[in-house]
Amino acid sequence: MLSKVVIPVAGLGTRVLPASKAIPKEMLTVVDKPVIQYVVEEAVKAGFRHIIFITRAGKSAIEDHFDYHYELEAELGNKGKADLLASIQTILPADVIISSVRQPKALGLGHAVLCAEAMIGEDDFAVMLPDMLIQDQQDGNDMTRMAERYRSSGFGQIMVEEVPHEQVNLYGIIDCQGHHINRGESTRIHSMVEKPAPAAAPSNLAIVGRYILPGRIMKLLQETAAGSGGEIQLTDAMHTLLSETQLEAYSMTGHSFDCGNKLGLLKANIAFGLQHPETADALKAYLHSL
Ligand code: G1P
Repeated sequence: MLSKVVIPVAGLGTRVLPASKAIPKEMLTVVDKPVIQYVVEEAVKAGFRHIIFITRAGKSAIEDHFDYHYELEAELGNKGKADLLASIQTILPADVIISSVRQPKALGLGHAVLCAEAMIGEDDFAVMLPDMLIQDQQDGNDMTRMAERYRSSGFGQIMVEEVPHEQVNLYGIIDCQGHHINRGESTRIHSMVEKPAPAAAPSNLAIVGRYILPGRIMKLLQETAAGSGGEIQLTDAMHTLLSETQLEAYSMTGHSFDCGNKLGLLKANIAFGLQHPETADALKAYLHSL
């Protein structure tokens, strides 16, 4: 049963300062919702029912956003503002639960995932990085398709997309031995490396920040030494896992936006704004006028 998803939200957000000085970067807005709401909605759409935030001091606005807000709900109800009331009441279906675990020290993504060990137990689970927003294309939701592939193959899945070769040092890079992956499909991974120098990179297939992993990864994370950037890297533990079992790279069909930096956040606002019924036409006209 694949129902748990770990979302690490303990990052400091230094790439979007000063906006993220007093509010979590995950609470920055894309059109009319905080980034984290898109990511949680993506998880819920793909069938996940237990959301586990890995968090830290100063980030409680994230948990509050998914909680009841009695005063606001009563006020909107009294004023008969049914649409606004619905917009805050229907963020999560009733059968979805949210838990949070503190990450005491910023020791890296691998360490953040390991903080969820007691909640994951032996279960397989997903990891979704909240910096990355994915805009679905007409042919559906990538996380849903990746979960289907996991169920049919039994292998862990890692979502990838091609990036410009000179940017491979910003990502975990996958080696599929030159095998072309059609969009929406998966293929076997032979190895992977976190943030390689362009000259040493095995490909330009970058890890996008969406994973479905066997529970076994927790044991391997416990034994993973600090790697790239002096941090405990999830990519290193997954690379070790390859000597025990197969993992597959899933080629995404949607568009990704890195909302952990200013330009990505701006692009996401434009792309999602051009799809939002309240803003699409006026934003299009404005962009034309520019
Ligand atoms: C993390 C992962 C990396 C992945 C990236 C996607 O890096 O370690 O493998 O490609 O997210 O955004 P970070 O961006 O946190 O340095």
